[in-house]
Amino acid sequence: MDKFRRTAIGAALKSGLFIKRSVGKIKEISYKGKINIVTDVDKSAEAMIIKAISRSFPGHSILSEESEPRNNTSPYRWVIDPLDGTTNFAHAFPFFCVSIALEKDGKAILGVVYDPMRDELFTAEEDRGAFLNKKKLHVSGTKKLSDGFLATGFAYGVQDARNTNIRNFKNFLMRAMAIRRAGAAALDMCYVACGRFDGFWEMDLKPWDSAAAYLIVKEAGGRITKFDGSKFTPYDNEVLATNGLIHRDMVRVLSTGR
Ligand code: IPD
Ligand code: CA
Ligand code: CA
Repeated sequence: MDKFRRTAIGAALKSGLFIKRSVGKIKEISYKGKINIVTDVDKSAEAMIIKAISRSFPGHSILSEESEPRNNTSPYRWVIDPLDGTTNFAHAFPFFCVSIALEKDGKAILGVVYDPMRDELFTAEEDRGAFLNKKKLHVSGTKKLSDGFLATGFAYGVQDARNTNIRNFKNFLMRAMAIRRAGAAALDMCYVACGRFDGFWEMDLKPWDSAAAYLIVKEAGGRITKFDGSKFTPYDNEVLATNGLIHRDMVRVLSTGR
């Protein structure tokens, strides 16, 4: 496990530093969709991470946002978002991160999320707790949704989708203390883990957005489900992550609108 952790942290720190140094120096932007961009920095950061992982663990599977999946019979799979928050990064808005998870037999055993602008490293290992740098993390103690400081995001398909997140946004706006749409789902979830946010929900996420932060929230004592309160895995696209205490209220609002 030590080698897994060292490899993931080493790759996250190295690619994170590269991303930080690349702010304002993007060479190439291309469009994956109408409002969905990817830069040369996403791709170079990904190449760095994949190189480090495949050098240490040549037989492992890799699922990473900007490449074709590398599948094989290994029980180990790395799930990578080399730059979560690309739109923020491209505008030098300092809220983005590197996200690296390791799954064994489909279950998350390691999660690493690194915010290079604040030098904040969130880590978790199964049954061993979650940490921010070296400090143990715990979710907030906020008990009432009306005191809740919440976060969400909107998928790149929002302008063409029939089922958008706008109704949920309005319903929570009327019931919680405040909502932020900061633009990096993995970091939003880590902020739930460390008690900065009390709850986070989003639809249409991909496994690389949530795989690492999912374990970090769980290990920090939080609760993660789908919108209706049923079991979530990073391969489900809707996620509700909270401190546990306001979970039922958030499920109710997401399910009934009230
Ligand atoms: C996006 C960010 C954003 C979320 C989107 C994601 P990317 O990831 O996490 O906050 O709202 O759904 O796709 O494209 O910046 O890696
Ligand atoms: Ca992402
Ligand atoms: Ca990304």
